[in-house]
Amino acid sequence: MNINLPGRPFSLALRLTFFISLSTILGFITFTWIMLHSVEDHFAQQDVNDLQQFSARINEILHSPAAQEPQRVKQLQDLIAGYRDISVLIENSHGETLFSSPQGSKLHLAKEDASFLSHLNSGDVFLWKPEVNSITGNQSPLINNQTYRVIVASGQASFGGKQQSYQLIIGLSINFHLHYLDALKKKLVAIAIVISLVIIFIIHFAVRQGHQPLRKVSNTIKNITSDKLDERLDSSRVPIELEQLVISFNYMIAKIEDVFNRQANFSADIAHEIRTPITNLVTQTEIALSQSRTQKELEDVLYSSLEEYNRMTKMVSDMLFLAQADNHQLLSEMVIFDLSVEVGKVFDFFEAWAEDRNVALLFNGRSCLITGDPLMYRRVLNNLLSNALRYTPEGRVITVSVLEHEHNFDLTVENPGAPIPEEHLPRLFDRFYRVDPSRQRKGEGSGIGLAIVKSIVALHHGKIRVESDAVSTRFIISIPRM
Ligand SMILES: Nc1ncnc2c1ncn2[C@@H]1O[C@H](COP(=O)(O)OP(=O)(O)O)[C@@H](O)[C@H]1O
Ligand SMILES: [Mg+2]
Repeated sequence: MNINLPGRPFSLALRLTFFISLSTILGFITFTWIMLHSVEDHFAQQDVNDLQQFSARINEILHSPAAQEPQRVKQLQDLIAGYRDISVLIENSHGETLFSSPQGSKLHLAKEDASFLSHLNSGDVFLWKPEVNSITGNQSPLINNQTYRVIVASGQASFGGKQQSYQLIIGLSINFHLHYLDALKKKLVAIAIVISLVIIFIIHFAVRQGHQPLRKVSNTIKNITSDKLDERLDSSRVPIELEQLVISFNYMIAKIEDVFNRQANFSADIAHEIRTPITNLVTQTEIALSQSRTQKELEDVLYSSLEEYNRMTKMVSDMLFLAQADNHQLLSEMVIFDLSVEVGKVFDFFEAWAEDRNVALLFNGRSCLITGDPLMYRRVLNNLLSNALRYTPEGRVITVSVLEHEHNFDLTVENPGAPIPEEHLPRLFDRFYRVDPSRQRKGEGSGIGLAIVKSIVALHHGKIRVESDAVSTRFIISIPRM
């Protein structure tokens, strides 16, 4: 189901989880790092302070003018005894020990190890970790594996009765701090790992939860089958990000439903349309046969039947025409011709009928050269004019006008008469659609005329629309000039 096919982008849940987790974990690592370093810095600062204070205190004792030397040594020993982690070594310029605390002699090595510092200044502080094998003599485990922060200081004081320059080296074992830092580091890493896992889990859960509406919508869509095309999704009940998608989907489904319904109705319509004339024929024939008829009566029946046959023939050929138009089999050669000439020909054809009904035909426009199939245009005009003539009251005028624009032209057929109720307008071009279905029985066409007009207009890449109000009914065709 969720396999990553080549070329398919990673799942949204995976991406979101990955990026949010990554940033959270990076944030967490940074926080841990900053925290460890600030604790480390704090300890270092504290150590340096302690060393400086201690060194000042020792210098003070060494320089106390009143005290005798044994007294000063005693004072030093007392001072050092109070600090378990501190070792002290005082040497003269020849490297001879002037004073040493119990562990102090090792600090001689510290000075040597620090010789990488080209030049040791008074007050310098450095880190010293004695190499086990560099320690000669006393290999006390106390010194092994210890790390010291060391301060050096120099000065002059009286030792052994004479004034000597000395170097003071103080080492502060920082193992306690290091252990603490080490433990803290381990603890933080462990916490970081656990929290990161929890975060990833929560994010993944949240993302999946966030996609819930998407799955819901998709499930609903999955359940819409051809017999449930009237179902719609409620766009007010999905998150705002999905609203547009749902609206578009509803729109698409509505269009599909419309087409589907028309297709479904089409066969029923055909059957219905053909059944009526056949029923008429059967009834007529049965009545004619029910008793003996004169020659004249039989002829009348045959004429009436002929009319019905003709209507059926026309309807069938219209339907055939429509089917061909829909399959784009009708586009014969396109030629350049004058539309006004074609209008004139159709007017000639309808002249007698118009006169009969006392209706005038008016052409409003100039000669207009267009590209297309003239026979098709004649058929369009035929259908529109025959409708118009049928619905125009006596003594009124039907106007056909042609309006040229830069890229297209408008062909309008306008007739006065009772307006078509608005709810019928969108369906007028459907096959078999009539505003008043009872009219067919009066032999007024089968409702295919406008469908044919629309197909022909579509073949010429144009559009047709209808407007109807108290003044007139207008069919407006707009076609690109090509
Ligand atoms: N000029 C018009 N004025 C009023 N109604 C019209 C006009 N033209 C078409 N109609 C309506 O549109 C319907 C469909 O027209 P059409 O497809 O030509 O079918 P038909 O002419 O066979 O009835 C007609 O039945 C009629 O109700
Ligand atoms: Mg018609």
